[in-house]
Amino acid sequence: MSKIHEIPTGCTMHKRDELNVEDASLMQAALNVALKAYAPYSRFKVGAALLLENGEIVSASNQENAAYPSGLCAERVALFFAGSTYPGVAVKKIAISIDSEEKDLTLAYAPCGSCRQVIAETEKRQNNPMQILFEGPHNQVICCEGIDPLLPFAFRLPE
Ligand code: THU
Repeated sequence: MSKIHEIPTGCTMHKRDELNVEDASLMQAALNVALKAYAPYSRFKVGAALLLENGEIVSASNQENAAYPSGLCAERVALFFAGSTYPGVAVKKIAISIDSEEKDLTLAYAPCGSCRQVIAETEKRQNNPMQILFEGPHNQVICCEGIDPLLPFAFRLPE
């Protein structure tokens, strides 16, 4: 608990074993898919599981490449797959989980800046925020109501 003193307004922190069944199983789906990540370079395996408004769960892992920037984060693999396979179906929740021997259990593992931007675009596209769940310190889960607390002043083109 020592390294995180504040979480952004709009986010809450929960003990993992006190999550509701839906959130607990989405976090578990994210961990399950993280185990299948292709991350031979960083050995930092990430999984993202989306709950769609039609009840489908879409999950994906990070996919790395010898040309490092050609790889892609788990969140964006999942969101782009959902956007192309289920266009028009809103994403209600995204859960993110990590599998790495180097995981420091005192830290939180929030989505990176580029993934936040893609979450912001998805929210704009569906005209609704999504819940964002990720690992907090000491076996806790942080839940944010939409991307705004994680990405204030997101880039948007004029309409
Ligand atoms: N990674 C993700 O999959 N999601 C994030 O939000 C941050 C980082 C991946 C990218 C790379 O494959 C590995 O984690 C180490 O940065």
